[in-house]
Amino acid sequence: LARDISKKRREFLYFAGGVVRDYLLKRLYKKRIPKPKDLDLVLQGNLKSFLKELLEKVKGQILFESQFLTYKVKINLNGKEFLIDFITARKEIYEDIAKLPKVFASHFEDDILRRDFTINALIIGLSPPYEGVLIDLVEGEEDLKKGLIKPLYLNSFVDDPTRIFRGIRYKIRFGFNFSEDFFLALKKCFEKSALKKLSGTRLANELKLYLTKEPEKNLKNLLMTTYELNLFEEAELKINKKNFNSLISLLKELKGEISEREKEKIFLFGLVDSRFLESLYRLGFPDSEIKELIKYKKLIEENLSNWEKLSLWEKIKIFEKIPSIYLLTLGIYFPKIKKDLIKFFKEYRKVKPELTGEELIKLGVKEGKEIGALLELIRKEKIEGKIKNEEDEKNLVIQF
Ligand code: CTP
Repeated sequence: LARDISKKRREFLYFAGGVVRDYLLKRLYKKRIPKPKDLDLVLQGNLKSFLKELLEKVKGQILFESQFLTYKVKINLNGKEFLIDFITARKEIYEDIAKLPKVFASHFEDDILRRDFTINALIIGLSPPYEGVLIDLVEGEEDLKKGLIKPLYLNSFVDDPTRIFRGIRYKIRFGFNFSEDFFLALKKCFEKSALKKLSGTRLANELKLYLTKEPEKNLKNLLMTTYELNLFEEAELKINKKNFNSLISLLKELKGEISEREKEKIFLFGLVDSRFLESLYRLGFPDSEIKELIKYKKLIEENLSNWEKLSLWEKIKIFEKIPSIYLLTLGIYFPKIKKDLIKFFKEYRKVKPELTGEELIKLGVKEGKEIGALLELIRKEKIEGKIKNEEDEKNLVIQF
């Protein structure tokens, strides 16, 4: 339908970016490539009026319009829902190092040449004058065959250093190599201190994509490659390489226990070197959160030398003082407490008395402080395995 409308309007419509790359990769290597999550459809023309026409013919709505002449559109067709990114063919002008570009609607050739890597700069026409044609202005197909991550121009990472992280993702995801130009572009980026100038939010977002957009098994390689290219240091982010394994295993352990947002936060907290938590300012975290983390880190440190000697209940009482995101982060910084902490998080913190306060009163306990103390005692005994069921709880109350 979109193609028919573009034909009627005599505007060139094409697929671009990941969808074309993945389609060709599949054909080349006959291997399974994860299905593209988003579909990029580009129009050389007036996209706003094009979408108006499209949405008169099909059920759907514009979910989001960005400053870059793009629209996220939800289409409902035959009972199914499709999310499509509609993009205006555009030219980008970068006026400042590592700042977002100014964009202008333009010719499809400009739209190809604005892109990050040759393998992402292939397009397939959906309407005349290039209906069904693969257009490759930058030898992208050749680089796909060779398995090379090659920027389109040497200033590419000065304009947009997030592309380096994107390149790492493609390298690890597809098992490709960096081209010589990749390293030349990286050198230019370092010379201009472009990574230092990249905003904290954009830097944090790119790192989060390692976690959310890539298969879990690739996380170690993604982090190691980032480290080996010296990107963390260049971005003025003090991280601790020794945390990588601990971080990855903790996130694995916590599957299903925490939300995606919590996971992202722990990931970024856990990456940084615990001796330099101020480094988290670089990732855009607010003062209040960093101060909290420092405070709770101190609390664990005070107890660390004595950790083995503490009873299970004493450890639990310490853990209970710390909100879960900070607590789990501290498990990454201090391997000594990790085992106890995971057990606490998955098991002990969920242990609750079967009896309620009201039932305790019915059993003759006086209202007030005593109730709280008893409920706490029941919990302690349950965790320590001394009592098991409601009956045991009642007996404990009677003895008390
Ligand atoms: N792009 C770019 N520079 C960026 C971000 C995106 O040139 N900093 C271009 C690339 O050509 C990319 C396209 O915009 O192919 C779409 O971006 P995105 O949806 O983020 O990536 P995909 O290529 O679809 O790849 P992925 O599989 O990682 O989603």
